Amino acid sequence: MSFRRLETADATGKTALVRVDFNVPMHNGAVSDDTRLRAALPTIRALTAKGAKVALLAHFDRPKGKRVPEMSLAPVAPALTKLLGAPVAFADDCVGDAAKSAIAKLPAGGVILLENTRFHASEEKNDPALAKEIAALGDLYVNDAFSAAHRAHASTEGLAKLLPAYAGKQMEQELDALEAALGAPKRPVIGIVGGAKVSTKIELLQNLVGKLDTLVIGGAMANTFLYAQGREVGDSLCEKDFADTAKAILAAAEKSGCKILLPLDAVVAETLASDAPTTVRDLGNENVAPAEKIFDCGPKSITAINAAIDASATLIWNGPLGVFETPPFDAATVAVAQHAAARAQSGKLIAVAGGGDTVAALNHARIADKLTFVSTAGGAFLEWMEGKALPGVEALKA
Ligand code: 3PG
Ligand code: MG
Repeated sequence: MSFRRLETADATGKTALVRVDFNVPMHNGAVSDDTRLRAALPTIRALTAKGAKVALLAHFDRPKGKRVPEMSLAPVAPALTKLLGAPVAFADDCVGDAAKSAIAKLPAGGVILLENTRFHASEEKNDPALAKEIAALGDLYVNDAFSAAHRAHASTEGLAKLLPAYAGKQMEQELDALEAALGAPKRPVIGIVGGAKVSTKIELLQNLVGKLDTLVIGGAMANTFLYAQGREVGDSLCEKDFADTAKAILAAAEKSGCKILLPLDAVVAETLASDAPTTVRDLGNENVAPAEKIFDCGPKSITAINAAIDASATLIWNGPLGVFETPPFDAATVAVAQHAAARAQSGKLIAVAGGGDTVAALNHARIADKLTFVSTAGGAFLEWMEGKALPGVEALKA
């Protein structure tokens, strides 16, 4: 893909406004997972090495245009200081005098984090006036937030139109890896889509059936499909209102020649607990009892999914197959993840995964580093998979 890369930027002695995704998990006011901070280090270092001042722009959570103290980015500055091994200053606004004078005080190669862009309502409205105010603080714009690139906001899109704009290292790595694996994917292509709700992934499912040779549907969203086919799902999580949507997706799949693989059997229990008694229900000839809940795919399903992976050249995965956070209901997710990793390691499969829960599940299965590529993005990865244009990426195109 052709977009403006950081190495082509003339940043020496300049002030770079760098959009990062520091929407990180926090616990008791401290960063509890620093993956996204680490992801930003190569870009920060590339710029400071040229003597550029780096002003980091980021959002945190969804304060809806108000100053919400619990949604301040202030706790991120010390965490980043530690990782970077150099001081990271903090300004309590992303525009105005506070930001301007703090940036002015930075030495060459200094780094500052600016307060949550979403404290301004105009951020999410992609208001050109806010973009202009931010642009006034620097000389060039670098977007390193692939995972927020599906948002057309002032700091992710509007700003790119006002200053020389470049993709940061993390953004570049994501785009290059996704393009290499999935731009013109090696066929047959199999997708695994799991997670709790059909309602949140309707568009994804509709778009994917037109692109995939096989689609595995797992997680609680499979229950809605099973229900739509007239199966008993007992007390399982199931969006009965979406039965017609599920049927339409199945019909679209049939029309475009995409084989759908639904669970053949299910691991059920009456309560979601590691010590709850479990039963395997063969969905072909057994009903799930009224008090039972489906929490995972069963052994027959695992065998079928793994065989379908063996028959494929490319795998795209988003969403766990069961409630992997509560073992033993992690069994299907772990077994399929390990199988996919082994195929990828032996060069027989291009395996790409993305999404917050998915990455957590793959880490749980201890194979995240054995797939071809794992995206740090959730929503942006899904939209990329659907073939949608990402506003934050479009704005960086050469
Ligand atoms: C994320 O954490 O997925 C991104 O930072 C986007 O956040 P948002 O869904 O609140 O826009
Ligand atoms: Mg999110």
